[in-house]
Amino acid sequence: MLENFVETRGLVRTFGKKNDVVKALDGVSISIREGEIFGLLGPNGAGKTTIIKILTTLLLPTSGEAYVGGFSVVKEANKVRNIINLVSGGETPGYGILTVSENLWFFSQLYGLPSSVAKEKIKRLTVDLDFKKYATTRMAKLSTGFKQRMSLARGLLNDPKMLFLDEPTLGLDVLTAKRLRTYVIDWAKREKKGTVLLTTHYMAEADEMCDRVAIINNGKILACDSPTALKENLKATPIAKIDVSSIQADFSFIQKMRGVVGCSETRSIQTGVTSLKVMAQNEKVFSDIMSKLNEEKLKVLSINETEPTLEDVYIRLVGKGFEQAEEKANA
Ligand SMILES: Nc1ncnc2c1ncn2[C@@H]1O[C@H](COP(=O)(O)OP(=O)(O)OP(=O)(O)O)[C@@H](O)[C@H]1O
Ligand SMILES: [Mg+2]
Repeated sequence: MLENFVETRGLVRTFGKKNDVVKALDGVSISIREGEIFGLLGPNGAGKTTIIKILTTLLLPTSGEAYVGGFSVVKEANKVRNIINLVSGGETPGYGILTVSENLWFFSQLYGLPSSVAKEKIKRLTVDLDFKKYATTRMAKLSTGFKQRMSLARGLLNDPKMLFLDEPTLGLDVLTAKRLRTYVIDWAKREKKGTVLLTTHYMAEADEMCDRVAIINNGKILACDSPTALKENLKATPIAKIDVSSIQADFSFIQKMRGVVGCSETRSIQTGVTSLKVMAQNEKVFSDIMSKLNEEKLKVLSINETEPTLEDVYIRLVGKGFEQAEEKANA
């Protein structure tokens, strides 16, 4: 058994020329074990899709190496293509004028499946993913959620050893997203060695699905571990949830206060309350924040210490990245 199903070493990818060069990947080295569900988390433009495109042989790296299933994505691209599939969220799969079954049939033939196998597989996938009732509906008429089920079915037709999912639950309702997540987890477990690399902007999704996640920003991996270990590392950082009875106030001053490591806010129009999640170097910082809020005539409804979530880990790592970027810009 391969210890690492995916291995990248010092991957660099640049776009553009001369004075207008974007370094999308800046030395990315990751390893994904066989059978693992691995998540890539990072802000827009971090380089997640670029990694997926290189690993799925759609894009060449500028330098560095990448292997999938032991095959080089550059020198053995065809061998890599035989054992993978890619599903991207928000894509319109197949042809609008064909029905769901016709589209799946079309893809099964592209993948070279024998007719009897294809028929059986299409039937099973439409039942398993709960869209059999739309089998004879034209693709163009499907809603986002059912298009996405169809995309996932398409991605599983060739029995890939590895599935790449680029924002698979983008724009889906809570229950449909949950259903697809559960299906992917089951698939990885059922296939025993089904390996998954997914990107997502939903931290709870990454926490639920992934054995390990890598947090990436500006083309660099900032951290890579299991969600539990990443949260554990943050235990030394006190985190408080502060509810303030205003949704209009500007709370950006908190981020700039001494000892504040990170701050995020959620404003609720229904309740008129802003929930601030503040990470600090020590507890004393919270009393400074309380005084400052008081000075600003902002009414604090409650303050509670909370356990770290994956979102806090992300804010801590990526938020710091932004601060550094700001410092650089101001220098
Ligand atoms: N074909 C391209 N030409 C030029 N620049 C590109 C190209 N593809 C990506 N980039 C740039 O590379 C960087 C990384 O892009 P990438 O699509 O990998 O980000 P991402 O992490 O997937 O972001 P998102 O969360 O928005 O999907 C960005 O700065 C982007 O503008
Ligand atoms: Mg992307």
